[in-house]
Amino acid sequence: MTLMKKPLALLLTLTLTLALLASASAETAVLYQSDFSADTDGWYPRSLGAAAIELTGEGALKITGRAGDWHSPGRDFELTAGETYQLKVDVRQGDRPEARFILSVAHSKNGVESYENLAFANAKQGEWTTLEGVYVAGDFDRNVFYVETYSAGTLDYEIRDFVLIGEKPEYETETIPALKDVYAGRFDFGTAVTFNEALSKDRMAFYGSQFNIFTPGNELKPDSVLDVLASQQLARDDETAVAVKLNAAAPLLSWAQLNGVKVHGHVLVWHNQTPEAFFHESYSFAKPLVSREVMLGRLENYIRAVMELTEEKYPGVIVSWDVVNEAIDDSTGKLRDSRWLQIIGEDYLARAFEYARKWAPEGTLLFYNDYNSALEPKLTGIMSLLESLMAEGNIDGYGFQMHHDVAFPSDAQISAGLKRVAATGLLLRVSELDVTIPDTSEATLQKQADKYGAIMRMLLEYPNQLISVQTWGVQDNLSWRASQYPLLFDAQAQPKPAFWAVVEAGQ
Ligand code: XIL
Repeated sequence: MTLMKKPLALLLTLTLTLALLASASAETAVLYQSDFSADTDGWYPRSLGAAAIELTGEGALKITGRAGDWHSPGRDFELTAGETYQLKVDVRQGDRPEARFILSVAHSKNGVESYENLAFANAKQGEWTTLEGVYVAGDFDRNVFYVETYSAGTLDYEIRDFVLIGEKPEYETETIPALKDVYAGRFDFGTAVTFNEALSKDRMAFYGSQFNIFTPGNELKPDSVLDVLASQQLARDDETAVAVKLNAAAPLLSWAQLNGVKVHGHVLVWHNQTPEAFFHESYSFAKPLVSREVMLGRLENYIRAVMELTEEKYPGVIVSWDVVNEAIDDSTGKLRDSRWLQIIGEDYLARAFEYARKWAPEGTLLFYNDYNSALEPKLTGIMSLLESLMAEGNIDGYGFQMHHDVAFPSDAQISAGLKRVAATGLLLRVSELDVTIPDTSEATLQKQADKYGAIMRMLLEYPNQLISVQTWGVQDNLSWRASQYPLLFDAQAQPKPAFWAVVEAGQ
């Protein structure tokens, strides 16, 4: 960790730390606060040579001579993989009415650099503007935080008050009821976990205390699993050959294996988060789309390779799969336009289920997963798709995403959707439950709790079909919809009223 040396800075650090400690039941520590009074404090210009940084004499650092948006003041930080960091920095520019700034991290592993944007803000001319973000550190050997621009690559600007706060939540690992125990004997209770979260032992011990089934949030999607470069090599001899890799999913899969908990695989076939190259000759998106026959070959080989590799490395861990995700169009209820539909045609779903059944280890449950099953015409579209898949006999169940808002859809709509899908007799899962709210006032948190409670009570009406309920994440601040506080635990990993409502519904 970067430690501070200067007495004034130390005082500031203590004050800020105490203020933060008072407001949160997490162990937080200011790990770094910039001090631009005497020197550039470890910051340097990231550029191809022309950019320069200087002290302004007023506690800020100025960058000039930029020739690209990423040319920026940056600084290296030592971070621990899996831990959560809060960041904040002020920016000011005097050049134009408004400019867009981004707080980013450039991380590298074995010399290969990659980037993540952590916060965005528009800065009005002459006004100090704050960028604030959160970062769960990945598995990298170098992390550089930097402040860059968007479409303003030659702008001069200043930064001040860069603060890095390390946050170690006091996880309630043994002190609160466990959702998996509350619903034991009825269905599994689980959550989604992303790569970086899976790197922290403490965090995973907490998640493991609450949940008994896990879905990688992104890491088993085709953009993580399809090895495009290796597939390009193979395609020289056989256009239908496919290479896959599991490195993104590895931390969660090996943790699950070690701890004897189940994983639900998400997802084999989807229109999103799938490399465009998958659909082109030689896996090269500059070339034409492949034929139906080649795409069917790739589909089968992809599914086969994923099933074989997961079973070889993590036998028995993945108990079920979303074979296809989100194939129905919201406004028409027909099949959504996608590369899959364009190249293979309407039977791409039936073929995906056929191949999944053929190659999945025996007993693996195969699901079709979608959202908006509380709304028409989507629900009718989902129903006819399910019926046609059931006629072929390779589908086991339907996954309701349930990305809801506290005010929409209504309980009546959700329950009507559930009832209609349940009438198929298929197994049911709730795969991605979250409920957004506009603010965190006591009243709104209570409404959110009521909504979660109502949903759980509806679900309990299907004891013979419902096999698992999974939230899409654990803590609000790490959610894909973090700005709308949709989950059961707050940013300090403390249970929210919604958590207690889910517990109560199960008692
Ligand atoms: C989301 C992830 O949570 C995000 O991290 C990612 O940027 C986009 O995808 N429906 C799904 C999930 O089936 O795969 C999506 O997950 C959320 C909506």
